[in-house]
Amino acid sequence: MRNKVSIIGAGQTGATTAHWLAEREIADIVLLDVLEGMPKGKGLDLQQALPIIGKDVVVTGTSNYADTAGSDIVVITAGLPRKPGMSREDLLKANAEIITKAAEETSKVSPNAIYIILTNPLDTMAYLTMQLTGLPRERVIGQAGILDSARMRAFVGMELGVSVENIQCYVLGGHGDEMVPLTKASNVAGIPLDKVLPADRLAAIVDRTRKGGGEIVSLLKTGSAFYAPSLAVVQMVDAILKDKQLIVPASAYMQGEYGLNGIFFGVPAQLGRKGLEKVWEYELSEEESAALKKSAAAVAESIDNLKTLIPNI
Ligand code: APR
Repeated sequence: MRNKVSIIGAGQTGATTAHWLAEREIADIVLLDVLEGMPKGKGLDLQQALPIIGKDVVVTGTSNYADTAGSDIVVITAGLPRKPGMSREDLLKANAEIITKAAEETSKVSPNAIYIILTNPLDTMAYLTMQLTGLPRERVIGQAGILDSARMRAFVGMELGVSVENIQCYVLGGHGDEMVPLTKASNVAGIPLDKVLPADRLAAIVDRTRKGGGEIVSLLKTGSAFYAPSLAVVQMVDAILKDKQLIVPASAYMQGEYGLNGIFFGVPAQLGRKGLEKVWEYELSEEESAALKKSAAAVAESIDNLKTLIPNI
């Protein structure tokens, strides 16, 4: 039987996720949006593109949650994106309402699904989904780290003029400006970044990575990044459905790892058919540990804000 992935929110990130997924022939796709005709139109358009590249998946556009029934994976992208000058936290209230509906409706018809959350503020929306669905942490994962790490890899590649295939970068922490790009574990062909780049250039790359999403928001003016975020989701979907046991940076619910509990946080996450199979721990420098604590405090504050909005979670 073919796998089924439902994408809630057929906007920029949702539709682009469907595009990358269909191209890879990983699963049948349902694209759902609160708007009526738009997901159907995008779904049909995408379906009609597939003969050109010889890919056989079924793409269904809909605004009816019944069509998502029996999904193996539910990707939630529904919600508002940032506008210039907004932080991801500014989206909290509006997106919490949207996520509540999406989580409740999908969990009714897809009791076995694994959730990948993209809607911002990401770590808090993943927390909300886990609370609302009552799922174990294995089955609710947030996408952020692959994106943040890919941004850093792109910047290092631009700086050094070497293939991005030679560049491994790891960004931990919350998906906000306090995220923690690791400069020793990140490397070029195995050589730590802090050995191949002068300190000031490395600091500039770290800073640009942290603000990478905001840089794109201010250029686009309407909306936020979508190519890289959606491709990051596709890498997670692929790892889960193929049971790859792939370790990627992703947002996972902390149960003691890195000394943290009760928040979603970007960590090296091993992904397989059960979803989150294992959280890996780095040995961090004092400076990195301190930065991680600061980032964790920002996520905890966001979750506290959520609890004041929705007191019973
Ligand atoms: N149910 C389903 N879809 C909804 C709902 C809802 N209750 N409310 C809004 N949507 C849909 C919108 O109609 C829109 O098509 O969500 C879609 C969001 O698409 P965009 O506005 O293009 O935003 P996008 O760039 O995809 O970002 C969505 O992902 O990366 C994050 O920060 C980003 O939180 C934002 C989310």
